Amino acid sequence: MNNYKDYVNHSKRITDINMSMAILGWDQETKMPKNGSKFRAQQLSTLAEISHELSTKKDFGILLNNLNSDNSLNSDQRRNISLSLKAFNKSKKYKSEFIVEESNLVSNAFQQWRLAKEKNDFSIFESSLTKLVDLRIKECEILGYVNHPYDALLDQYEPGLTTNEVDDIFSNVKEFLVPFIKRILRSNKIDDSFFYKKYSNNKQWDFGIELLKKMDYNFDSGRQDLSAHPFSTHFSPEDTRVTTRIDENNLSEMIWSCIHEGGHALYEQGILSENYGLPLGETISLGIHESQSRLWENNVGRSLEFWKHNYESLKKIFPKQLTGVTVDDFYKASNNVKPSLIRTNADELTYHLHVIIRYEIEKALIEGKIKVADLAKIWNLKYYEYLGLEVPSDTLGVLQDIHWSHGSFGYFPTYTIGSFYAAQFFNQAKIDNPNLIKEIENGNNKNLLNWLRKNIHNSGKRLDAHKLCEKITGEKLNFKYFKDYVIDKYSKIYAL
Ligand code: CO
Repeated sequence: MNNYKDYVNHSKRITDINMSMAILGWDQETKMPKNGSKFRAQQLSTLAEISHELSTKKDFGILLNNLNSDNSLNSDQRRNISLSLKAFNKSKKYKSEFIVEESNLVSNAFQQWRLAKEKNDFSIFESSLTKLVDLRIKECEILGYVNHPYDALLDQYEPGLTTNEVDDIFSNVKEFLVPFIKRILRSNKIDDSFFYKKYSNNKQWDFGIELLKKMDYNFDSGRQDLSAHPFSTHFSPEDTRVTTRIDENNLSEMIWSCIHEGGHALYEQGILSENYGLPLGETISLGIHESQSRLWENNVGRSLEFWKHNYESLKKIFPKQLTGVTVDDFYKASNNVKPSLIRTNADELTYHLHVIIRYEIEKALIEGKIKVADLAKIWNLKYYEYLGLEVPSDTLGVLQDIHWSHGSFGYFPTYTIGSFYAAQFFNQAKIDNPNLIKEIENGNNKNLLNWLRKNIHNSGKRLDAHKLCEKITGEKLNFKYFKDYVIDKYSKIYAL
C-alpha cells in the first residue's frame, strides 16, 4: 500500500465487511427464525473481528499518515484521509478481544431484550444489560474524555457534542416546553379517537408504501419490511431499507414511522455512489441524520399542506373509519399533544421529555450512580414526574426501546438535536424557495428533496455538523427556530 488508490481500495474492503454485517443485522430483526440467533451471533462477531483487523492494519496506518502530509491531494481527498486517519487512531484504541466481546454481548442482549419484552419481564434482560453498561463504562476509559465519561459515548454519534452542551440544551427545552405543554393541556381538547378505530393491516401497509413513493423514496434502491421497532439501514446508496410496525388499532403509528424512516432512507439514497467506502460516502452524524427524518415526519408530514394533498387518498382507503373527519380535523389530531407512554408514538412536543428521561438515566448509569437492577423502578418514577403517567408494565416502559439492547448509549440526545436542526433547515428551505409550502400542498416534494440533496445529502462527510449548519443557514444550531416553529404552529391549533 503506497498511494491514494491503495487507500481507496482498502477503505472499500473495510466498508464491504461492515455493510455485510449490516445485512446480517437487518436480517436478524426482520426475517431470521428464533433458532438462528446462536450462529448469527458467531457470524457477526467473526465479521466484526475481520473489520477490526482491516481497520487497524499497520500498513494502513503508515499509508494514512503518509497521505496525510501529501500536498498533491485535492481537498476532497485530504478530507477523506483526515477522517480515515481519525477513525484509524480510534480503532487502534480497541483490542480485538473488546470487539469480539462487544459483538457477542450485543447479539445476546438483543435476544434477551426481545424475550423480556414479549414476557413483560425486565429481569430477563437485566443481566445482559448490566454487562453492556459495564462494557460502555470501560469503553469511556479506553476512548478518553475531558470532562465527563459520557462525552466519549456522545462523540460516537454526534462528533464534538459534550455532556455540558446537552445539559444546556435540555435545560432550554425544559424551560420552554414544560410550561408550554401545560398551557396546551389546559386548553381545548382535540378529538383523535378516529385514529384508534380498526384499520386493516394490508391497507395500512399499502398506504405506507404510497407515502414513501410520494416522498420519492426509490424502491429500486430499497424496500420496506416489518420489524418490532421501525428502523432504516443501508448497505450502499443503492440499497437503503426501511421497516415499519403496524398496529391495526392505531393508524398514526404506521403513518409517521413510515415517513420518519423514509426521511432517513432518503438521506442515504442521496449519498453519492462514487464515494462508496470513503468518508465522503457517509452521512455526517446521527443528529443530522435525525434532522432528515424529523423534517419529513414533522415539518412536512404533520403540516396541514401535506395532508391537504394526501388526505383524500387516505380517505378513499378507509372511508368508513374517516366518515365525518375533515382534513382540518385530521391535521389537528395528528398534532394532538398528549403525554403518552411510548416514545415513538409521542407527539413532537412531549417527545423531548421522553428523550430527557433516557438521557438522565444513561448519564447516571455511566456515572455509576444507579444500578441496572433498579431501572424499571427509576423509569416509572421519571414517567410520573415528567409526563404524569403511571407505567403499567415493563413492555410499555423500560423495555420499549431497542437501543440499549444494541448497546447504544449516548444515542438518544441526537433525536432532540435532530428536531432542532430540522426546524432550522426547514426554515432556510422556505427562505430559499418561497413556493415550497405551495408545492407541498400540490403534492410536489421534488424541490424540497433536491434542496436537501444539494445542501446536505450529496456532500457526505465533507463538513462537520456545526459547519454544515453554518454554511446552510448562516449560523450555528439555534434552539430559537424550533421554538418559533412550535409557538406558531401550536398557538393556531390550540387557539392559545
Ligand atoms: Co430516526
